[in-house]
Amino acid sequence: MQTRGWAARVGQMESFKVMDLLRRAKELEAQGRDVIHMEIGEPDFSTATAIVEAGQRALAQGRTQYTAALGIAPLREAISVFYQQRYGLNIAPERIIVTPGGSGALLLLSALLVNPGEHLLMADPAYPCNRQFMRLVEGQARLLPTQAEQGFHLTPEQLQQHWQANTAGILLASPANPTGMVLHRQPLQALCQTAQQLGGHRLVDEIYHGLTYGMDAPSVLEVDDHAFVLNSFSKYFGMTGWRLGWIVAPQQAVADLEKLAQNLYISAPTVAQYAALAAFESDTLVELEQRRAEFGRRRDFLVPALRELGFSIPVVPEGAFYVYADASALTQDSFQFCQQLLEQEGVAVTPGLDFGQHRCREFIRFAYTTSLPRLQQAVERIGRFIGRQS
Ligand SMILES: Cc1ncc(COP(=O)(O)O)c(C=O)c1O
Repeated sequence: MQTRGWAARVGQMESFKVMDLLRRAKELEAQGRDVIHMEIGEPDFSTATAIVEAGQRALAQGRTQYTAALGIAPLREAISVFYQQRYGLNIAPERIIVTPGGSGALLLLSALLVNPGEHLLMADPAYPCNRQFMRLVEGQARLLPTQAEQGFHLTPEQLQQHWQANTAGILLASPANPTGMVLHRQPLQALCQTAQQLGGHRLVDEIYHGLTYGMDAPSVLEVDDHAFVLNSFSKYFGMTGWRLGWIVAPQQAVADLEKLAQNLYISAPTVAQYAALAAFESDTLVELEQRRAEFGRRRDFLVPALRELGFSIPVVPEGAFYVYADASALTQDSFQFCQQLLEQEGVAVTPGLDFGQHRCREFIRFAYTTSLPRLQQAVERIGRFIGRQS
């Protein structure tokens, strides 16, 4: 008798190339090599002390049971107050759904909004896992090529041109991964209006909000109260491993999101929810702002340094902690470039191949999630590597 294999969807999912590179980087480190990690999409700072202490208190108080599927009331309220303070927006706590990371938010929204055979339009390049969430719900991510001059964002014209009967909506990101580019108020509004006129949902990934340099990114809720927002405690709040995020949804979607949450994961991690209450305290926010300033300094070092080495960066990334650089003057194949750079110089970066198809062999993502001295060292090593190629 033949053994049954896995479901087809798994075979059709792609692995995350950066994880393959990370594995190789770890192997090299195990052999005693020094590797500078610029491939990792998470802050190198550990979670702020006040948050850790709040988590420890929650554990000591025995807060180890499930919570309500939508999250604990004080956290939903604290997030609501945060919208008032940061954006001047009145978002009722009842519209806020606490999730296991932004990933949990993507799971719920994919399940809620996309029927089998339907698709969401998104930018190429985009966060790789979006495609796999779509695959999981038997839908599809339709990636449309974007240009640096448009900040690597979709345009209303592209939506008009590519919209079909089975387009469920758009998934935007601001600031975006891998490009770090922000969607400013006017283009954000124009995209949402067009998608609304075409009858589609608007989802905006605001996971990198708070990590913008010299400016703030507008929330889509400032221009479209019926959009779905997904956000996370991972990046600005520095809580990647705690697995906590949230959705802001139109009121009429909350009951169905609750039903999905109850069935798919019951509730977000309890200790993390209590810990996150401390994330909004003024002392914590001061610390987070200092970290943001440090990321800004790193960006300001890295962008000119990479340009000096021959990478083209037509627009300066405004947020997140990534520089998406065009390496076509230096290589025909950025994937091979990344592999060789790791092997020869011990610098780990992410090839464009992870983020889509459009010019993906020309681009490389550099994450500045390591200290300035390490970034300086990395730039020296990359310079030496390029020098040897020519
Ligand atoms: C654009 C984007 N969305 C969502 C996520 C998921 O993050 P998390 O589940 O840690 O909130 C990430 C993580 O890198 C991301 O870059």
